[in-house]
Amino acid sequence: MSPILFPYRKPLLGEEPRSPDESLPGRISSAQRDRSVPGGFRPFSPPGGHAPVVDRRSFLRLGAAGAAATLLLPNWLAADPYAPFIHRDLGRPVRIRGRVRSGGRGVSGVAVSDGLQVVKTARDGTFEILSSEGRDFLRMTVPSGYRIPLNPTGTARFYQPIAPAASGEMDALFELERLQDSDENHAFFLLADIQTQDRQEMEWFHRQTVPDVRATHGALANPQAFGIACGDIMFDDLTLFPAYEEGVSRMGVPFFQVVGNHDLDMDRPTDEGSTDTFSRHFGPAYYSFDRGAVHYVVLDDVFWHGSGYLGYLGADQLRWLENDLRYVEPGRPVIVATHIPVLGSRHLREGREHPSAGISVANRRALYRLLEPYRAHILAGHTHENEHVFEAGTHEHVNAAVCGAWWSGPICGDGTPGGYSVYEIRGEEVTWRYKSTGFDFRHQLRVYPRGADPKAPDEIVANIWDWDPAWTVVWYEDGERKGEMARRVGTDPLSEELHRGDDLPPRRTWVEPYPTGHLFYAPVSPDARGIRVEATDRFGRVYSGSPERPG
Ligand SMILES: [Fe+2]
Repeated sequence: MSPILFPYRKPLLGEEPRSPDESLPGRISSAQRDRSVPGGFRPFSPPGGHAPVVDRRSFLRLGAAGAAATLLLPNWLAADPYAPFIHRDLGRPVRIRGRVRSGGRGVSGVAVSDGLQVVKTARDGTFEILSSEGRDFLRMTVPSGYRIPLNPTGTARFYQPIAPAASGEMDALFELERLQDSDENHAFFLLADIQTQDRQEMEWFHRQTVPDVRATHGALANPQAFGIACGDIMFDDLTLFPAYEEGVSRMGVPFFQVVGNHDLDMDRPTDEGSTDTFSRHFGPAYYSFDRGAVHYVVLDDVFWHGSGYLGYLGADQLRWLENDLRYVEPGRPVIVATHIPVLGSRHLREGREHPSAGISVANRRALYRLLEPYRAHILAGHTHENEHVFEAGTHEHVNAAVCGAWWSGPICGDGTPGGYSVYEIRGEEVTWRYKSTGFDFRHQLRVYPRGADPKAPDEIVANIWDWDPAWTVVWYEDGERKGEMARRVGTDPLSEELHRGDDLPPRRTWVEPYPTGHLFYAPVSPDARGIRVEATDRFGRVYSGSPERPG
């Protein structure tokens, strides 16, 4: 299939370039900055006030200074020095009684949660949770074997707001429909960073990505499929969520949503409430569901602090995850979708020892501990590049962006074409392939001629964007197998041509090539007439390519 090229547009006169927040950790976009504190980042303050921190020992020492000083202390401290420093108003207690049913009969063993506690339905499908008004949504872990319930737009509807009567009581009902066929074998599409900023970009999403996903779904052997939009669905303009939902309904499979740093209500002074608009469309920002043998978990790892964000998982979310996983048998595959990579390796490629706060999750060790008993895959987006990272027993898949170079070019900064990943599950076996928008599945590498990388004048370069250490990459000259190519960190030659410099790419001149870890080099004879690179993925699928000039 010939490639569909993304339309280009020269920058309009007076158009301001945008900041590449993903390439500069913790940096905020101009749209965010307009609505934020002048001068940049604001330090954390304790929720509930800006009183100075006084620990017990300091207080006792201060106490010797006399009762007169006590009069100067805040009332709450003078009244009870040992009271909790942070006060959280959890609201009134709410007793939720509900039922999960299918075909008029209760469904037992379904996990239901208020985002903190997790209970399972009894034999007759009933459950009870003593929650509080401070919790946002009641959610059900959609069990395997049942259809994913839908909103009218085609997004998954597994939740309902916690809205009790004046008495503090609330009734809840979740209806399920049994699948005709087993979902032991199923598939899903992982769309990271759709990131449409305006109507024009949304139209490109509708014209290019939507039919591509639809066609890919049609070609799959197993029709049991769903999608996950892995964050940065928007590019700050949340009024475009309905247009995304139209795209979902046209793709024809249920979609789950992950919240990204560009999907937030940025006028909120802290993380609380920053997902309100997202939640009005898609429900809770963290939840779980089951398909076949796989337990899926969606996390919100974007912590908004009022003038920017960092990768962090809040205490309630971690406690919920601990409770959620209590019901998941050790050894099962668990697939976690989250926006900001938990670890990534950009820092290593850029020569830094530690990952930045904006492109990694600061308290990831807590997540790793919870995932220890499982065969865990962590799927993320955010950095607009492809890579696989293995850490603490988990396999992290960082996915390139649907929007390529933020809708101003066909590839991401690491050379990966704009596109999405397709995961296929057979029993407990998880396989995946990258799907470049406008190309078929054979498009898994791009080979550049000898000297395309000026730092390697005698070598060919192959960009194998979904590479992980279980792949093998060899090259042939005139039909003769020469050996394995050498992996080195470098920049993709086509990305250099399309992105390098102050004027490129059009509309997003701040996009630059990033150092990538999936480039392979081989010294070739200048006389060789036929050069071919052959890459075999971890599942034994073989892809090949020959040198082509960039551009
Ligand atoms: Fe992002």
